[in-house]
Amino acid sequence: MNARESITVEVVAIEPLTPLIKRFTLALPDGAPLPPFTGGAHVLVSMQDGATWHHNAYSLLSSPHDTRRYQIAVRREEASRGGSAFMHDKVQVGSRLAIGSPANLFELAPEARRHVFIAGGIGITPFLAQLAEHTPEARELELHYAFRSPEHGAFVNELKQGPHAANVHCYADSEGQRLDLLKLFKSLPPDAHVYVCGPQGLNDAVYANAALLGWPKAQLHSEQFAATDTAGKAFTVVLAKSGLELTVGEDETILKAIERAGVTVESLCREGVCGTCEVAILEGEADHRDQYLDDDEKAAQKTVLLCVSRSRTPRLVIDL
Ligand code: FES
Repeated sequence: MNARESITVEVVAIEPLTPLIKRFTLALPDGAPLPPFTGGAHVLVSMQDGATWHHNAYSLLSSPHDTRRYQIAVRREEASRGGSAFMHDKVQVGSRLAIGSPANLFELAPEARRHVFIAGGIGITPFLAQLAEHTPEARELELHYAFRSPEHGAFVNELKQGPHAANVHCYADSEGQRLDLLKLFKSLPPDAHVYVCGPQGLNDAVYANAALLGWPKAQLHSEQFAATDTAGKAFTVVLAKSGLELTVGEDETILKAIERAGVTVESLCREGVCGTCEVAILEGEADHRDQYLDDDEKAAQKTVLLCVSRSRTPRLVIDL
């Protein structure tokens, strides 16, 4: 999918769910159905804030069986790169937003008999669509949802009243309720697939506990939006084909610096996950921050993911 194929949607409802999270309901202005999607899909939302554009990826949390509307939840990020603050402060019912078609980088493994979801905070969103997509009779799904305190458990009530309630387990950190990952892994049948979405610490803990038990990596799936640290020292990026030299600011990504100069680059997740924005390095060394290249590819310094990675050298010349 090309992220530039955009759909204009209208915000038809906004609900505050917690002090930090709002749910936005989006629909086509003429009420026609939106493109179909599967649980785990996200859309890229493009927001124009004066002369600045923000592009953030948000998981669709509404049911894939109802495409008259999409729903996303936005957590106001303390270290917001602008997009979440814009959604919270400037978007109102009736606002129009440009979104890309849904793309799914977090699909259920078709071969698995049992799917175990582990969510931290706002990382719950892709799992809500996956739960809505399947009945408990059709798929064996189990959710473990950890959050800071009861007031931050945005979807607890809906989950407890939903059809999967018997397989939903909630953990409020402030109440001393902890998810024991080792115990969980030990309790799973060997062919279960485990999916994690949440902060880096949770992601790392899931992978570390799985490794302790020799759990196959092919049965682990993760999605992590909005948690990659993309800041660092400023440097120069050179676009070899045009000779354009751009300064990438301390809080800016290479992708944003290029877009600021009016050059369009294809991008999809903008979080270092999908590989769409990968380009060849002609000179210099990248400071890789993505989750797409493997360790050997990162060491080879042949390509860089423009949406999250930076440069180790003062100049980075890329094949663009
Ligand atoms: S846009 Fe997905 S990795 Fe950069």
